[in-house]
Amino acid sequence: MRYALAACLLLLAASSFVDAKKKKVADDELGELLDNIDADEEKKSVEPAKNPCEDHQCGWGKECVVGKKGEPTCECISKCPELDGDPMDKVCANNNQTFTSLCDLYRERCLCKRKSKECVKATNAKVHLEYLGECKKLDECTEEHMAQFPERMADWLFQVMKELKKRRELHKLEWEELLSEAENDDEKKHVYPVIWKFCELDTKPHDKSVSHHELIPITAPVIPMESCIKPFLEGCDANNDGNISIKEWGKCLGLKEGEIQERC
Ligand SMILES: *[C@@H]1O[C@H](CO)[C@@H](O)[C@H](O)[C@H]1NC(C)=O
Ligand SMILES: *[C@@H]1O[C@H](CO)[C@@H](O)[C@H](O)[C@H]1NC(C)=O
Repeated sequence: MRYALAACLLLLAASSFVDAKKKKVADDELGELLDNIDADEEKKSVEPAKNPCEDHQCGWGKECVVGKKGEPTCECISKCPELDGDPMDKVCANNNQTFTSLCDLYRERCLCKRKSKECVKATNAKVHLEYLGECKKLDECTEEHMAQFPERMADWLFQVMKELKKRRELHKLEWEELLSEAENDDEKKHVYPVIWKFCELDTKPHDKSVSHHELIPITAPVIPMESCIKPFLEGCDANNDGNISIKEWGKCLGLKEGEIQERC
């Protein structure tokens, strides 16, 4: 439950980017409106031209800006949304540096990558999100904890799935059906949630493998409470190629060979 809540926070944090983008679009529309005030009366089409940025996606810390030739370009966010200083907005980067918000972290990364004068520290070109909340001294990940981890994680995933089903947020009927099966079968109870989570993580890009980057949504909310999650998941990449396959994932989380099936 606590985990599900934390995951929601990440989603909330991500949505502040969307707001920033929306605001930009609104400003541009206003500009167009002003341009049109003195337009020729014969020009009947009041319909404003489609904003080139409307369908243009920019990565974290970036926003779409219309260039001189009317082309959409991704620039570093000029200003992150003002926050009310909630400590839960703070994030800890992989260099153990606290940033005010997720937006501030990725804005700084963008500025430093592009060698902007606004970049605070050149090495920040490589920062990324480690976990949500202020940087702190994490509990040690003991061997005992690590050994229990697959079991605990599979059980946690089962609980998350149940919670999502209750809220009708599982999105696919297939998963709802598999979960119902799992609820009545102790073996499947362990298996299906593990496979479900792999599919959830393997989205950007959807290529049947989970990269370090794709692990961030699962590790960021959990690391402050479970310091073993990161070393554990890193260990899942058995052949060390920087990607976790469904086979590696299943094996790592304690599934048997025959139980590991691709479902996404
Ligand atoms: C990270 O920063 C926190 C807070 O400043 C500190 O307590 C902790 O020991 C640091 N951790 C590491 C691994 O340096
Ligand atoms: C991980 O997989 C993706 C897609 O298959 C590939 O583009 C990328 O190079 C892989 N990463 C590594 C480190 O092998």
